Amino acid sequence: STYDLLIVNGTIVTASDVYPADIAIKDGKVVLIGSALDPTLAKEVIDAEGAYVTPGGIDAHVHVDEPLKLLGPVADTMEEATRSAVAGGTTTVITFATQDKSITGPAALSDSVKANVDLYETQKLYCDYALHLILFHIEKPSTQGSRLLDLQLANVYSTYGVSSVKIFMTYPGLQISDYDILTTMQATRKNGFTTMIHAENGDMVKWMIEQLEEQNLTSPYFHGISRPTVVEGEATNRAIVLAKMMDTPILFVHVSSPEAIDTIRSAQTKGLKVFAETCPQYALLSDIETKCHHELEQQNGCSNACSNAKGHEPNVKLNPDEFDDDFIGAKTICSPPIRPDHCRESVWKAMNNGTFTIVGSDHCAYKYYDKTSGKLDAFKGDKNGEFKYIPNGMPGVCTRMPLLFDYGVMQGNLANMMKFVELQCTNPAKVYGLYPKKGSVLPGVSDADLVVWYPSSNEYEKKPKVVTNKLLVHGCDYTPFEGYQIGNWPRFTIVKGKIVYREGELIEENAKGSYVKREKSKLCTPNNEWVTELRPSYQKEANN
Ligand code: URP
Ligand code: ZN
Ligand code: ZN
Ligand code: ZN
Repeated sequence: STYDLLIVNGTIVTASDVYPADIAIKDGKVVLIGSALDPTLAKEVIDAEGAYVTPGGIDAHVHVDEPLKLLGPVADTMEEATRSAVAGGTTTVITFATQDKSITGPAALSDSVKANVDLYETQKLYCDYALHLILFHIEKPSTQGSRLLDLQLANVYSTYGVSSVKIFMTYPGLQISDYDILTTMQATRKNGFTTMIHAENGDMVKWMIEQLEEQNLTSPYFHGISRPTVVEGEATNRAIVLAKMMDTPILFVHVSSPEAIDTIRSAQTKGLKVFAETCPQYALLSDIETKCHHELEQQNGCSNACSNAKGHEPNVKLNPDEFDDDFIGAKTICSPPIRPDHCRESVWKAMNNGTFTIVGSDHCAYKYYDKTSGKLDAFKGDKNGEFKYIPNGMPGVCTRMPLLFDYGVMQGNLANMMKFVELQCTNPAKVYGLYPKKGSVLPGVSDADLVVWYPSSNEYEKKPKVVTNKLLVHGCDYTPFEGYQIGNWPRFTIVKGKIVYREGELIEENAKGSYVKREKSKLCTPNNEWVTELRPSYQKEANN
């Protein structure tokens, strides 16, 4: 046959267009877009029945199990994360390889990445994946450190196509100083890497936690109290100033705070290369959900014995209909935390007005309940359930696109379907060096990574109506979005021309994902504007 697969009668959506057309696929690539393409030329035909056909999603912020386990026992293997991804219309995930501090020298970072790639090679992958690098240790001080890091980044790019690093301004053990941030930025700038920043002021958080603990305010809700929006605002501003001095483009991950959004927007207005990501949970959830059952009772004027503000071992019932669970707030603990309800509006606005470049899930799932010990993780061993023991993060790789379809496009919070595609498919590909192979539907160029959604009518039996944990086929035992309505859902998810998810069923034999090397960012390039006469010596050397 001329084509392996033909998708007919659909409405193609890209970041710039919405139009009815057919798509022909051959050898894993989009080869032709046209009207009334001849179905007899194809081995297989999908009738999209007037539904939207979008590029597959690119979720550039996913945490999966790593050889190093620095983020603790995350629930999903790469197999489970890619499986959950395709069930929600995502066809490429970018996950994190953490720097292995025990390896030193020029190959240190490429060897850290190798350990991840070797592990994932042994797993069944439902879609493609790429890797960012988490950097938390600068091996040598001062200019020496920068020169070594420069070599290490050059290596990890040439061997593995990694072109982005994430650094942390918080978390004991991961937090790096402003001094080390500058060193990092010098090396990322030289190598054309994207510097991803987790912006929260770790010292403010530490101080706040100590104050709360002294008052026995340690239930999950107080996690959010310990890291208010100004904590994110301060760190965001500081990182922008550092990046301005280094003339390095930066990207803020998981932005949630109105102060941070305002600071980012004003930096962008001034022409600084500042990019940002937000996540569906910051647009949809509010801090009420981090309150436990007894705290809500108190709030509603109930003065029964349930007044123990300190975390206490709950009577866990996994059936979400039974809300008799005093620790339920732990399910939505993440950093930055879920914000007070009024913050959600600024998040939606910033998605529409271009402040946010991308939407990622920050999928970082931890099991709520441990069957072996019969306990929640935060109560294992000597731990007493204080919020500082609750691992940060929640699942979301599957729900990212369907939630933005319903709560974004259908409910009018997101401007239109093009914005939907831009934020979740096209821009992530551009920012992280995957475009135009991924993130669009360009004949002769793009991989055939596509989602055929359901037609708008509700009469399709296989179209799910509400989110259930089972639907997400991930490794986690809960979703914070249990019971949320679903306006649409991927009907067919196609990866490199093969259907991997069809009307609720995974097609195992088509699970042929692999590691993708990336190029450098198409968006994050320096301005060549310095605040003083200082130029890094590499730049002077290059001019000689
Ligand atoms: O709470 C979160 N976001 N956990 C995942 C790790 C991170 O900081 O992205
Ligand atoms: Zn982070
Ligand atoms: Zn209680
Ligand atoms: Zn994360």
